[in-house]
This record gives sequence, structure tokens and C-alpha cells, in this order.
Amino acid sequence: MQKTFSIIKPDAVASGRAGQILAHLEGAGFRIVAMRMTRLSQSVAGGFYAVHKERPFYNSLVTFMMEGPVVLLALEREDAVKTLREVMGATNPANAADGTIRKLFAESIERNAIHGSDAPETAAQELAYFFTSVELNQL
Ligand code: CMP
Repeated sequence: MQKTFSIIKPDAVASGRAGQILAHLEGAGFRIVAMRMTRLSQSVAGGFYAVHKERPFYNSLVTFMMEGPVVLLALEREDAVKTLREVMGATNPANAADGTIRKLFAESIERNAIHGSDAPETAAQELAYFFTSVELNQL
């Protein structure tokens, strides 16, 4: 079993898709280990995406991630990191395969409905950024 980290982004929460995305994830075999709805501050969103600090879209991305509530998720299944990336689809919904979450729910390359960790090491860092070890291990 492997854990990964996901965020249902402000666009998807605002358009009332959070429940459908959670159902999609559970249907794909993920167990929800921890979940919290919150609104990200500038420092939390900026710190989370610090790896993209030099990218031209960084400021816009951070502003978008602060614009409304998000759902933070710790998810578990076999091969969770890779499977979540497949279930999400390509970053740009225009390139996402049919049936993927981004194809179904994303608006644009930035407003793309869901985040998922890109590697096991990143998943461990991102899970620890938002959840305590107690939250990740108690259920
Ligand atoms: P995510 O998987 O959360 O990782 C980084 C985010 O940056 C990505 O989803 C998009 O929301 C955003 N992003 C990536 N590439 C671009 C781009 N070219 N233009 C705008 N936003 C982008």
C-alpha cells in the first residue's frame, strides 16, 4: 500500500464537483485516509508550490489556489502515486484522456480541478506539509 496527496482545487469546489471527484477517486480504488476542507493562505499556497517559483504562472497559480475553499486529501491504494496521476489525466485538460478527472471537470491548464503528487518522495513531503503523522496513521 502507498499513500499519495491530492487537492481538490478551488475551481472544482466552487462548481460543486468535490463530491463527484471524491466518488471518482473511491471508484478508482483509493481509500480516503485523511481529508480536510480549508482555504489556503498566501504563505501556505506559495510554500506548497515553491518548486514553481521561477515559472511565469507562479503568481497566478498561487492567487487561484487562494480564491476559495479546497479539499486536502491523503489517499491510499497500491501504486497510489502513479495511479492517481493516471486517474487525474494530463495537466492541460485539452490533452487529458477521456474519462479522467481533468477531462471531466477541469477548466484550463491552471484551473485544472485537482492536484496529485508527482512522485513518492513528493507525496511524502506534501502529505507532511498538510497532515500530522497522527492524522495519516490513525484510521
Ligand atoms: P498541479 O498538478 O497542481 O501542479 C502545478 C500547477 O501549476 C498545475 O497543476 C496547474 O494548476 C498549474 N500550471 C502548470 N502549468 C501551467 C501553465 N503552463 N500555465 C498555468 N498554470 C499552469
